[in-house]
Amino acid sequence: MRRRPRRNRKNKFTRELIRETQIEVSDLIYPMFLIDGEGQREEIGSMPGQFRLSIDQACEEIGSCLNLGLNTFALFPALQDNLKNRLATESLNPEGLYLRGIREIKKSFPDAILLTDVAMDPYSSDGHDGVVEGDKILNDPTLEILGQMAVAQASAGADIIGPSDMMDGRVGVIRDALDENDHQEVSIMSYAVKYASHFYGPFREALDSAPKSGDKKTYQMDYRNRSEALIEAELDYNEGADFLMVKPALSYLDIISDLKSEFPLPIAAYNVSGEYAMIKAAAKNGWINGEEVALEVLTSIKRAGADIILTYFAKEIAKQLKT
Ligand code: PBG
Repeated sequence: MRRRPRRNRKNKFTRELIRETQIEVSDLIYPMFLIDGEGQREEIGSMPGQFRLSIDQACEEIGSCLNLGLNTFALFPALQDNLKNRLATESLNPEGLYLRGIREIKKSFPDAILLTDVAMDPYSSDGHDGVVEGDKILNDPTLEILGQMAVAQASAGADIIGPSDMMDGRVGVIRDALDENDHQEVSIMSYAVKYASHFYGPFREALDSAPKSGDKKTYQMDYRNRSEALIEAELDYNEGADFLMVKPALSYLDIISDLKSEFPLPIAAYNVSGEYAMIKAAAKNGWINGEEVALEVLTSIKRAGADIILTYFAKEIAKQLKT
């Protein structure tokens, strides 16, 4: 045998020398949930180790992440029901939880990178990402609201705007709205290819944001489709997105790989709540080694082509990488 692949695996240092993929803490974005109040830390039942945090607690958490070299955070607000309405107006309240949270975190940690969420669902009494009329989710009337949300978040200090709604045309509308309001330097990470997935369950529990009626299949993509992902990604590319995201990640490695080869932009993947919950549940039962499986899963997402990974494992992995 001239070719013996095992030679390149013969010991640890040889394997290190030839490894093709390596997760680094600078690849990771840590999603976090905000709630009102002081000193609040509520664990999310289906996401062990993840909490809804009041702003002061979120600041503490972010401080400890920064010490681990974890610098980028995706923030989501968990609102009380009485603040939700049809047009998601609480999203524009400068004294509301979310905009206040962004301002206070940026004030404490100007160097932390904040990826903020543009979508109506956390503030919508219908639990949808767009304006609901009868059984329809209206596209164009939603765009104006999304543009205003983006400007409000940028004014509060957001570094990257993350439209997670899947309305047609929203990246262009948000880019124009930001530019017209002197926020040329604020980036857009579009949830370009977001599937109507059953892996979002724990997240919807965390925010109590599940749709009150129907589902999200008229705006989020059908998981049976692959080519259609390129249409979505191309639109967002042409409308000015700075990053393209695929969501969820683990069942969509083919899509990540397609986007990486077709678009010269940084590609992000969202390792979503259900993917986190499955690993935590199996690990709790002693059926798998949770830490090792998490690292293997994140490495596979990067190997498929993701430059950036949003993951609830971010802090754990950052600790693991430090030791
Ligand atoms: C909605 C949104 C969702 C997630 C992020 N933003 C859920 C949904 O579309 O219903 C899911 C994230 C996760 O499951 O971790 N704008």
